[in-house]
Amino acid sequence: MKIIVTKNYDEMSKKAAELMAEIIKNKPDCVLGLATGDTPIGMYNELVAKYEAGEIDFAAVRSINLDEYYPISPDNDQSYRYFMNKHLFDRVNIDKANTRVPDGTAENVREFCSAYEAHLDALGGTDVQVLGIGRNGHIGFNEPDAELERFTHLVELTPDTIEANSRFFASEAEVPKHALTMGIHSVFKARKILLLASGKNKAAAINALVKSNITTSCPATLLCLHPDVTVICDEDAYSLV
Ligand code: F6R
Repeated sequence: MKIIVTKNYDEMSKKAAELMAEIIKNKPDCVLGLATGDTPIGMYNELVAKYEAGEIDFAAVRSINLDEYYPISPDNDQSYRYFMNKHLFDRVNIDKANTRVPDGTAENVREFCSAYEAHLDALGGTDVQVLGIGRNGHIGFNEPDAELERFTHLVELTPDTIEANSRFFASEAEVPKHALTMGIHSVFKARKILLLASGKNKAAAINALVKSNITTSCPATLLCLHPDVTVICDEDAYSLV
């Protein structure tokens, strides 16, 4: 695992965007595995700036997102589809038909999850999977548990995650209690994993990711089994290591 510690959030975002831009330049039809949340917003802004400067082109890029609340409609401004359109897809020349975010309106969840996993396979896995990390060490919405699921599945969010994500909603009661998420094996289909973290509230999770034994009670610890993981975090997130 390669760890890059930056001074602050802005530097983390710039470094992450540089790495992503290299991947896009080297393989114009690359498959980007994307994440939502506060952490990657700065990186998306930097990628948009690079696109506007003519440095990168999204015309042939394909993307697939990690997760989505369930149930939620794509036009709900708290949905991850809405987030991706707002922060990246509507601002660059990506063909939206080439983007996938789990469908928060899927009626048959089991069928949807296997179709999503089949789509990931049809893409040949991702060239890079961007990850944030939960305060509890979750990746995607793979929450700490005795067992972790391999493939895309429906998950019940933990009270900690609901509380952490309530900042985006009018009240905690409005946070959906479930989500659709790639599983650990789905994430591992990435040829490269890029995990981003910023702020003191991620320090315990980053400390566990770097130092703790592998445990399903901190899903991020499994990442040390993947052959190509880069962690870019700021000094605050790294402060307990
Ligand atoms: C989002 C996702 C989550 C977040 C994590 C951190 O697609 O999969 O695992 O990456 O909850 O969220 P932020 O960045 O808001 O602290």
